[in-house]
Amino acid sequence: MVATPKIRTQVGIIGAGPAGLFLSELLHRHGIASVILESRTREEIEGTIRAGVLENWTVDLMNQLGVGERMMREGHFHTGITLRFKGQSHHLDMVELTGGKKVTVYPQHEVIKDLVAHRLAQGAEIHFGVRDVALHDIISDRPFITYAQADGTPAVLTCDFIAGCDGFHGPSRQAIPAAARKEFQKIYPYGWLGILTEAPPSHHELIYARHDRGFALLSMRSPEIQRLYVQCDPKDDIALWPDARIWSELHQRLETVDGWTLTEGPIIQKGIIAMRSFVCETMRHGRLFLAGDAAHIVPPTGAKGLNLAVADVLVLSRALEKFYAQGDSAGLDAYAATCLARIWKGERFSWYMTTMLHTDEAASPFEHRIREADLDYVVSSRAAATALAENYVGLPI
Ligand code: FAD
Ligand code: DHB
Repeated sequence: MVATPKIRTQVGIIGAGPAGLFLSELLHRHGIASVILESRTREEIEGTIRAGVLENWTVDLMNQLGVGERMMREGHFHTGITLRFKGQSHHLDMVELTGGKKVTVYPQHEVIKDLVAHRLAQGAEIHFGVRDVALHDIISDRPFITYAQADGTPAVLTCDFIAGCDGFHGPSRQAIPAAARKEFQKIYPYGWLGILTEAPPSHHELIYARHDRGFALLSMRSPEIQRLYVQCDPKDDIALWPDARIWSELHQRLETVDGWTLTEGPIIQKGIIAMRSFVCETMRHGRLFLAGDAAHIVPPTGAKGLNLAVADVLVLSRALEKFYAQGDSAGLDAYAATCLARIWKGERFSWYMTTMLHTDEAASPFEHRIREADLDYVVSSRAAATALAENYVGLPI
């Protein structure tokens, strides 16, 4: 009989998304060993289209870690964003409102590519394509993870700590007994249909549009590729959205300002996402620490999800560094509380942007007017604009 391969490390990380990869990079800088177990292939994680906007400090962190070179070359650095509603465009100058902080568009899958390449070049162990990941003895000081390697061979990873960075549907949060989990959730009646289209960006910065037909967002990926989103029913089948319907809705919702036109091109990718806000305040259970989407989800309108994930692992890496260097577990004990203070502000901002910018058939005419008043306030009050801007570019970490 072939013996089950057993490996040992200090921190066992489940998931090679932004949370898992940044954590492994940060730990390496502190001389702490980790192993990442990822259920998808490298090609899959490097090809999944998700987030686009990085907060100012996330950009700084990429540079400090030595993984920012391509981002600085290929990213889009914007001074602000445009809010478009009631037939008018309003530019919010984030740089001016925040004392110099920019809006950076650099796609999540490019961040993933940069981090994977960097970690592998440093000799990191990232096991792709693993299956049946299960967490054991998480309330002991010798937790372990069982899994099947890509070729099906069962394996065991023993560690001092487990970092659950496996996204909303991963096994880590479920490994905490339901009775011990304190969770909060809100489901929205909105979905986003996102497309990639081979056309140069119709505008040099992002446009967030509120329209009676629903929200629309113009973003970009490169000088040749636009990223566009249109509000839809989250239960819609993508088959209900042939290309002509998508373009018709985008034109109607975005071309509300004299002289501005949306450039069309072939649609090369499309998909629908539903929206929820979710927080599991129990971010630590024994030797298991949850980070990123495994612990919290935001609707995408505020562009916060990826950044919140990175913020968690920055806090966790500092706490682990203190533990290993000085035997001080105060940072680990304070992990959830430290993260949650910032997470709830990200939840609030994402809820606020989503509610203000989307149209809800179930909302009363009164609520509809309140949402318009919210937008009017942002574009007519420097205080309100500053509040939006400081959240958008990222609160202090
Ligand atoms: P994930 O990226 O979900 O990574 C989890 C990893 O764990 C995955 O690779 C997964 O394969 C792996 N995994 C899962 N289960 C297992 C298992 N059983 N075993 C091993 N591995 C497992 N955020 C922003 O900040 N800005 C934006 O502009 C933005 N726009 C968005 C637009 C869209 C359309 C969407 C869908 C999301 C957007 N987000 C945005 C949110 C952002 O993409 C997520 O918040 C981010 O990916 C969270 O990172 P994570 O590492 O916590 O989780
Ligand atoms: C993108 C996604 C967002 O959620 C957002 O608020 C802005 C831009 C994007 O994918 O480019």
